[in-house]
Parts: sequence; structure tokens; C-alpha cells
Amino acid sequence: HRVNVAILGATGAVGTELLELLESRQFPVANLKLLASPRSAGTTLPFRGENLPVEAVSEDSFQGVDIVLASAGASTSKAWAKTIVESGAVIIDNSSAFRMDSQVPLIVPEINPEAAAQHQGIIANPNCTTILMGMAIFPLHQVQPIKRIVVSTYQSASGAGARAMEELKAQAKAILENQTPSTQAFPYPLAFNLFPHNSPLNEEGYCEEEMKMIRETRKIFNAPQLSITATCVRVPVLRAHSEAVNLEFSRPFAPQQAREILASAPGVKLVEEWQANYFPMPIDATGKDEVFVGRIRQDLSHPCGLELWLCGDQIRKGAALNAVQIAELLIEKNLLKSSTSAVSV
Ligand code: A2P
Repeated sequence: HRVNVAILGATGAVGTELLELLESRQFPVANLKLLASPRSAGTTLPFRGENLPVEAVSEDSFQGVDIVLASAGASTSKAWAKTIVESGAVIIDNSSAFRMDSQVPLIVPEINPEAAAQHQGIIANPNCTTILMGMAIFPLHQVQPIKRIVVSTYQSASGAGARAMEELKAQAKAILENQTPSTQAFPYPLAFNLFPHNSPLNEEGYCEEEMKMIRETRKIFNAPQLSITATCVRVPVLRAHSEAVNLEFSRPFAPQQAREILASAPGVKLVEEWQANYFPMPIDATGKDEVFVGRIRQDLSHPCGLELWLCGDQIRKGAALNAVQIAELLIEKNLLKSSTSAVSV
């Protein structure tokens, strides 16, 4: 059957990718509503050869809608979730608003699809760096439980939205023209620079992004005791994130075995050409569905340690693709709230 879909935040970096994915994956859309702030009302976006109008979100935006794909920030999701759920739709929320709520499943379809069955109208899409890391390490965790994770991230501008991507380009241009780069989306110049992730810091000195990786990975893996520490850094890359991951197991994990597992893991692409020193790079991962993994090697400092390197498109698997896969999962498992409102064809 076909379902009625709304995209909340349709004009954003993730929103426009959601639109593209619904079309390219031939998602069974009956009606599609594009919602954003009043600033965007009256503009249009292309879908299946038509220009669809963008509307300002309002109280009656969700009438008859089955699935809302939301990517308009945590405050917008919080403001509209109740209205969405009461109107009978399921919201798949890309923001951090509900991720750690015990009533809300936090899902990566390749890792914990079974959690979707517990939903009460809200499903959370995890943080982008968390999704990308989970994709690469969960297949190993299933073979031998991970004891401890030490991760360092190299995060692109896209994580801060479409405006931040434009800002990075404008800054690069300004610097090349010997002008002072302007900063609005970011606190400091990102072009030809990098800085520790600019999310709020807690008392222990961890930023919110690092805490998301720690808490969300534990929730998705259903491993509340898993030891994780993270250092998140913003780098001048447009839209794919990279991560250096150190894993500690209870017993040695042979790199060759890890390679074989990851070579056949869903949604993962093994990229290793040791002779050429060619490994995953953000420019290669950009626009791709898979998480690229490589440089798998024994940790020289620990007999039970394994090192790996990954890159993944932050907007695709890190956000929009994962959300669309959750929507596909809801349809496949018949987990939409109001199957009666679905139109049969
Ligand atoms: P708009 O373009 O009208 O501002 P990004 O993550 O790329 O910055 O995109 C954010 C998305 O969220 C945009 O589509 C933006 O719409 C939308 N948005 C931001 N604030 C609101 C709001 N208060 N109500 C509805 N949509 C919002």
C-alpha cells in the first residue's frame, strides 16, 4: 500500500536529501507534504518531475499523514510531536529531542530493527557520528562483544546544516581572496582550520556530541555498560564524516577476521588498498549509501585491541537514508499506527 508522508524541515540539508531518497528508492508515497518555517512558505521543491509547494507548518499540517520525517531541529520536533502523534501519524525524528527517552526506540535498521515494534508514535533517528560508527563496529560486536571504544571524529560542515556548508565555502573563498572570513553558523572559521566540536560542554569537559556517541551507542547496542570515550572535532570537509576507532575486546580479534566480517556486512563497504595507501576518504563517501571502512589493524599497544578508520556521508546514512530505512521498516513490519488511513492501490 501507499502512505501519506510529510517532511518537516523539507528545505534543509537533510530535508532535501529525504526528498531525493523517497524518489530514488521508489518509496510508496501517496501524498507528500513539504513543511518548513514560514520563511520558506511559497517556495517549491522538485519531486517526481513536479514542483511541490513548501508550506509553513501548522496545527492542521498532519491531518491524514501516516509518516512524518522530521529534520528541523530539536525545538521544532518538541513543539510538534504531540500534534503529530495525536493526528495518528508516526514521527521519525532526526533531532536529539527524544533519542534518550526510554519510551522512544532509537534505531539503526541494520543493528536493532526489532526495537521498532515498541514505538508509541515517535521513533528517533540517532546522531550521525553514532550511526556511522555503529554500522562499522556492530558486526564485530556480534562476533565478540566489545569491551571499550575510543573514538575520535573528523566531522564535516553538513552536520550543522545547509547554512554551515555555505559558510564553509564562503570562508574558503574569502581566505583565498585575502579577506576576513565571516562566521555565523560556526563560532570560529572552519576553512583551513579545525576546532573541537562546538556543542555545549558538561562539567566533565565532554561536549554534547561526544555524550551523544556514548549514550546513544549504548542504547542502540542494548549494552548499557559498554565503555566508550569520544573526542569530536569539526573539520573543513563539506558533507562526509570520518572517524578513527579503537576497539578493545576480551580476546584478540584478528584483523583478517574483522575484514571478512565487514566485507559482507550490510551497508558497509571495505575500502583497503594497502599498496597504494588508499583508504576511506570523505570525498569518496560523499553521496554514497555505504559506510566506508578500512585501515583495519592490530593495536600495537594492546593484544586485544583493533584499530579501524571509517568515512560515511553524514546527510545520507548519517541522517536521511537511515530515517527512510526506518520508514521502510515500519511499512514492511506493518507498524504504522493507522494502517486504516493508508490508501490501498
Ligand atoms: P526554513 O528553510 O524555512 O528555515 P538545516 O538543518 O539545513 O539548517 O535545515 C533546517 C530545516 O528546519 C529547514 O527546512 C528549516 O526551514 C526548518 N525549520 C527551522 N526552524 C523551523 C521552525 N520553527 N518550524 C518549521 N521548520 C523549521
